[in-house]
Amino acid sequence: MKIADERQMKQGRGLIERFREFLPPCKAIVSLGEGNTPLVFSPKLSARVGRGCEVYVKNEGMNPTGSFKDRGMTVAVSRAIDRGARALICASTGNTSAAAAAYAARSGIACAVVLPAGKIATGKLVQAFAHGAKIVAIDGNFDDALRIVRELGEGTEFVIVNSINPDRIAGQKTAAFEILDVFGDAPDFHLLPVGNAGNITAYWAGYRDYKARGRSTKLPAMIGFQAAGAAPIFHDKVISNPETIASAIRIGNPASWKQARAALDESKGAVDVVTDEEILAAQSWLACNEGIFVEPASAASIAGLFKWSQKIPEGRRIVCTVTGHGLKDPDSVLSRIGDLEPVPAKIDNVRRAIGF
Ligand code: F0G
Repeated sequence: MKIADERQMKQGRGLIERFREFLPPCKAIVSLGEGNTPLVFSPKLSARVGRGCEVYVKNEGMNPTGSFKDRGMTVAVSRAIDRGARALICASTGNTSAAAAAYAARSGIACAVVLPAGKIATGKLVQAFAHGAKIVAIDGNFDDALRIVRELGEGTEFVIVNSINPDRIAGQKTAAFEILDVFGDAPDFHLLPVGNAGNITAYWAGYRDYKARGRSTKLPAMIGFQAAGAAPIFHDKVISNPETIASAIRIGNPASWKQARAALDESKGAVDVVTDEEILAAQSWLACNEGIFVEPASAASIAGLFKWSQKIPEGRRIVCTVTGHGLKDPDSVLSRIGDLEPVPAKIDNVRRAIGF
């Protein structure tokens, strides 16, 4: 088989086939064809930063369930199946539950998801339901849900598929590998949203793995962005009532806090905050100017780029990860559309309504 054909075959088999040598062993592969997401050069973002900087967007909304969670889930569920698991469980702000439900369906095992009542974006709840998960809404926030799930996971009935499961982090490292494979080296800066802090931990581990094997010469500075009302790492204290429109990162006590702190320190990076207004403005800007529609939490990296653009030295290569698709959380945009008053079905009326 030609090398190109071989690569093509591996693409359709998901990221475990492609990155096996960097991942824990998996016998059964439960894949939905995750990974291999677009790394899009963004001319207008680059122009906004200016001074010869190049900005790329790693669009993780293009994964099978519409978020980066699929990368960790393929590894976590494959290994759960290897161990004979019968049921998965997770706490979630929405995306982990959507991914867990889909991979559980694919592998034919049960899945229970524990969610903060009333705080899950519509699309994500619909996904968990559509894939047949048992949904439990609690009167509490994500941190409460994770505490309960940790306790339930101590028994033998469930395998926890939150990022406290190291297989999730292992799978998520592959996003860094893909970026390194495209550039042939690490970018100078990597910006991303931070919630439970698993993803920043995973990217940093991925960058370090490749460098240790001589596949890159440098490491990026990791810059994490939290929502201003849910910024425990930034403030260095647990936030007991986190609040933000970016419901995916509405977390006050991140599970991978220590590992994220290490990634920030070792990479000479930083953690900063962005307000809900900045997040929504960045979401809208990216959709209208670059054609990339992301959910509010994902726009935290873009809002962060705008905030940091003058702090980044000239000529640097920057990657912003956008973590989830905009269609998952239509409500904030829907409220801006207002009522659409119908016009008569005649060409003149339509032309007049268009207004140009
Ligand atoms: N962006 C999105 C769209 C997310 O869903 C999450 C986390 C993050 C960013 C933050 O990533 O937690 O690794 O720091 N969502 C989790 C969930 C908590 O339950 O879906 P993190």
